[in-house]
Amino acid sequence: MTVESVKPVTSEPPELREPPLAGGGVPLLGHGWRLARDPLAFLARLRDHGDIVRLRLGPKTVYAVTAPDLTGALALSPDYIISGPLWESLEDLLGKEGVATANGPLHRRQRRTIQPAFRLDHIASYGPIMEEEVYALVDRWKAGETLDITAESFRVAVRISARCLMRGSYMDERAEHITSALATLFAGMYQRMVVPLGPLYRVPIPANREFNRALADLHRLVDEIVADRRASSQKPDDLLTALLEAKDENGDPIGEQEIHDQVIAILTPGSETVGSLVMSLLLVLAEHPDQVDKIRAEVKSVVGDRTVAFGDVRKLTHTANVVVETMRLHPAVWILTRRAVTDTNLGGYRIPAGADIVYSPYAIQRDPRSYRRHGEFDPDRWLPERAKEVPKYAMAPFSVGNRKCPSDHFSMAELTLITAVVATAFRFEPAEGSDPRTRIGITLRPRRLRLRAIPG
Ligand code: HEM
Repeated sequence: MTVESVKPVTSEPPELREPPLAGGGVPLLGHGWRLARDPLAFLARLRDHGDIVRLRLGPKTVYAVTAPDLTGALALSPDYIISGPLWESLEDLLGKEGVATANGPLHRRQRRTIQPAFRLDHIASYGPIMEEEVYALVDRWKAGETLDITAESFRVAVRISARCLMRGSYMDERAEHITSALATLFAGMYQRMVVPLGPLYRVPIPANREFNRALADLHRLVDEIVADRRASSQKPDDLLTALLEAKDENGDPIGEQEIHDQVIAILTPGSETVGSLVMSLLLVLAEHPDQVDKIRAEVKSVVGDRTVAFGDVRKLTHTANVVVETMRLHPAVWILTRRAVTDTNLGGYRIPAGADIVYSPYAIQRDPRSYRRHGEFDPDRWLPERAKEVPKYAMAPFSVGNRKCPSDHFSMAELTLITAVVATAFRFEPAEGSDPRTRIGITLRPRRLRLRAIPG
């Protein structure tokens, strides 16, 4: 036997490919102008250029992942973190110690603290609040009335999140103030994230003054809620109690700033995503009266003649499929970003340390390679036998991995209940002044939705 023959077999690391440059760039601006002009159409076409493509945004290279399996691999890999200019702008507005922007051990500890408040076995305790809010919504609507669906949707979303996660009588009135502060913030936040003009947003013109006042109000309201909860010495089993009792890695209580930032980091994106989806769901009900009929038939068969209760939600499978199909075609979260912390390999492509990576649930969930009749609204595609046809990670509106939305079950239960109650109470038709075209902001939603509520 020669020494040669016992030499261990070394497997050469695979040769990694450079992702191709997406077509359509122009000198100096690269792909930036296309992305800025029509981001949804631009992102939806990128897969024609490759599973991962390079984009030039001015002097910067950004990697776009377009194939569902690779978005899953990205979200599940420890080689990427949440970072980058968009996140820094968000931290400047909302606070630096919130779970949505933390990484590493801090993020893990924060997730452990907040997760129990969103666990499946916990959510039933939110039922009475969700029911109260959704029936208050439809009780306020009068038959024949034109409804400002933008305001109504955000109101119910904020009130449910705030009242469930920070329970107490002190919330009832403050939920209304939080709603109005967040409505102003949602209108201006996206612009401040993508066009970070820093001091220019402090110039005292009315729009800036209104935004800055709303931001200050939100921070003040959260401080008041935390102080009132402490003073009441009540400890309901909710998110706020979990935060007030949380310990850091040394076993010490977490700081005041972290409690404050956590409340804001959870309430703000939670309300904007759900509010946007309630708008999209109401648009779907107006555009697909046949779905209103199907939801009503399902409610009738499950619930009979009494009113829909939170406990019925898990049996309302068609209604839930209407919610899922709405999320597929109108995902609230339409773009996600990561940064590589090391030189790494994604699907055989070389991703360098420090690279910024984006992917779009909107593009993935409308891809004709993953969905037959991809543009058609078809809730039955989520029936168990047909859902099997959908490729893995081609439908992940709450994401996967360590950043997966903690509120997936909470949000699905909430949206299913809202859809069932609203579709049972009214039909809807477009009213004057409605502009259902898609508005692109931190979330996607109809621009301005005005619907007439029709009885029967
Ligand atoms: C994270 C979607 C509702 C709180 C996320 C992420 C997605 C998402 C896609 C992952 C972001 C990423 O990977 O970078 C949605 C959708 C919702 C919804 C579609 C409604 C239908 C909510 C609600 C709350 C909430 C109601 C809380 C009240 C959060 C938080 C994170 C998060 C705190 C950050 C998690 C982390 O970074 O560890 N959400 N969300 N979301 N969501 Fe949601």
